[in-house]
This record gives sequence, structure tokens and C-alpha cells, in this order.
Amino acid sequence: MIRNKILELLRSRLGCFVSGEELGRQLSVSRTAISKQIQKLRQEGYEIESTVSQGHRLVALPDLLRPEEVRSRLQTGVLGKEIIYFSQIGSTNDEAKRRAVEGYPEGTLVITEAQLGGRGRLARGWFSPFAKGIWFSLILRPPFPPQEAPKCTLMAAVAINRAIHDCTGLASGIKWPNDILYNGKKLVGILTEMSAEMDAINHIVIGMGVNVNITEADIPPELQSVATSLQLETGVAVPRLDLFIQILARLEELYLAVKKEGFATVLDAWRQESITLNRVVNVIAPDRSFAGKALDIDVDGALLVETATGVERVLAGDVSIRSLAE
Ligand code: BTN
Repeated sequence: MIRNKILELLRSRLGCFVSGEELGRQLSVSRTAISKQIQKLRQEGYEIESTVSQGHRLVALPDLLRPEEVRSRLQTGVLGKEIIYFSQIGSTNDEAKRRAVEGYPEGTLVITEAQLGGRGRLARGWFSPFAKGIWFSLILRPPFPPQEAPKCTLMAAVAINRAIHDCTGLASGIKWPNDILYNGKKLVGILTEMSAEMDAINHIVIGMGVNVNITEADIPPELQSVATSLQLETGVAVPRLDLFIQILARLEELYLAVKKEGFATVLDAWRQESITLNRVVNVIAPDRSFAGKALDIDVDGALLVETATGVERVLAGDVSIRSLAE
């Protein structure tokens, strides 16, 4: 594709002029064809300066998660093996599940700039405005038994929380099972879906929504009290591509370690980065609601909550944090 070749050439000499003649010669196309493609790249958000005497130079890349930008920065071997990109889509999880059934390999990423039908846990929606967050899904085909799947979500939470610390310095924390919160408001949500047989996983799709550069004006009124973004909390816009690359690197690091050594390290990291443990919580489980003190998570990732009548084990559901423990 001429567009990609032009971009590759301009990117390899970022900030320097490349003459129209040289581009034409290297790609064996006319100068008119090149001008047309340059115009298209500008429309996509690439900042390209052109002069008659010197040619074209790439001045700035758009803050889009386009596959060629992601690929050029990837530090991973497995994650990002295949990248499927949409400027908008219903839900990346739905698309990833379709692709997983079609046989797309472990490490496939479905990335979008905007979701029209983003899905959250417990049948909620997920607000995903254009280029303001990182909305993506990852296909994994882990060699674990199906009961281990929830731990992949804990792994994803630890990876994202660490990437946020590294990129922004924000001391965010994990709320059981897998929300990343700052000052009581949600920065990240994770939706894990699985297809499995009795004793083996066919695939897991881990969908992640990271509120990066959402402003107060963007947030719908009904979410104002529960949602926030990295930009709102740090006061500066966060380059989405940098953070995305960091998330993928952290995720792969943990995933490879888990495959080699099991989940113990992830569970310990989750405990350390948790804002749920040692707090009084309201639990809303599928079959019951109650309050108690969150004591720990067990080897399956279930939350252990101390109530007046004993310790309850919560495998699925939601918690809200009531107050700091004494
Ligand atoms: C939650 O906290 O309820 C989970 C939210 C998960 C949102 C992400 S955005 C990318 C992926 N595609 C979806 O439709 N949902 C997940």
C-alpha cells in the first residue's frame, strides 16, 4: 500500500524533509499520487509539512492507536501478534470473541478509537468516546483449567495498575475484582469472557477500558460521581500510545511468568495494590447482599469477607467500599 510505504519513509526520517522526487523514485509512483496520499495522512491526523522546494516532512504523529504506530513501538513477543483496528465499532469484546472462534491466535488485539456499544460487567454499558481512552480486547489461549480464568482478570488489573504508575506516577489502586480506582472513582474497567470445555479453555477475551483523556465535559451526568480519567487526575493529557505500549509490556511480562510459575506472584501483587482489603465493604453478589470486612483473596481470586456470622467467600459480584478500617 502506497500510504504505508510513504508513512514508513517519512517516519524513518521524522522531522527531516524527503523530496517528492525521492518518494516518487523509491515507491515508483507519480508525485500527484504521493500528494494525494499525503493529504489523506493529514486527514488521519499526521502532521506533515510540505514545501515545493524541499518536499515533505513528518512533524508529529497523531495520538491514535493505529496498528502501524502500535507495531512500531511494541516490546512484546506474543501480545500484538495480530492487530485488528477500527476507528469505531460496537464492542471490541464482541469482535474479539468472533475472531477467537474463527481461530485468531493467542495475542490477537482488537483495538478501537470509539465504541458504540461498549459493554461493562454485570450487563452495564461502557462509555468509550473517540480517541479519549484505550478501548481494546486481547485473545488468550492459556493452558489452564477453566476455573483459573478469573485469575487472568486479576493479572490484567495488576498489569494496568503498574502501567499507570509507570506512565503517570498516579497512585491508583485495585478494587475487587478488577476495577482500577483513584480517589474512589473509576479509571479502568476489565471485562473477561471465556469459552471453555469442562477441562480446557478454548479462549479468553480480556477487554479493557482505560479512561485516559476524558474531560469533565465529556462524562455523562450519570457517571460524574463514579468515573474519572488520567487527564482529570493528573492535570495533563497522557499520550495514549505510550501508555498502551506499557500496558501490553506489563501484561505480557505477567502472563509469561504465570504460565511458567503459576499465579502466586500475581495474587501477591494484587494484594499489595488492592484498595479493598482491610476495608468495610458492601457486597452485591448474584444471590445475596451483605456487609463485612474484606480480609483477603483466596487462591481462586475469591474475596473473603468477615461478617457477624462468619467468613463469606465471594466469587462473583461487586463491592463498594464503605470506610477505612481502624
Ligand atoms: C466494567 O468495569 O464494567 C468493565 C468494562 C470493560 C470495558 C472494556 S472497553 C473494551 C472492551 N470492550 C467492551 O465492550 N468492553 C471492554
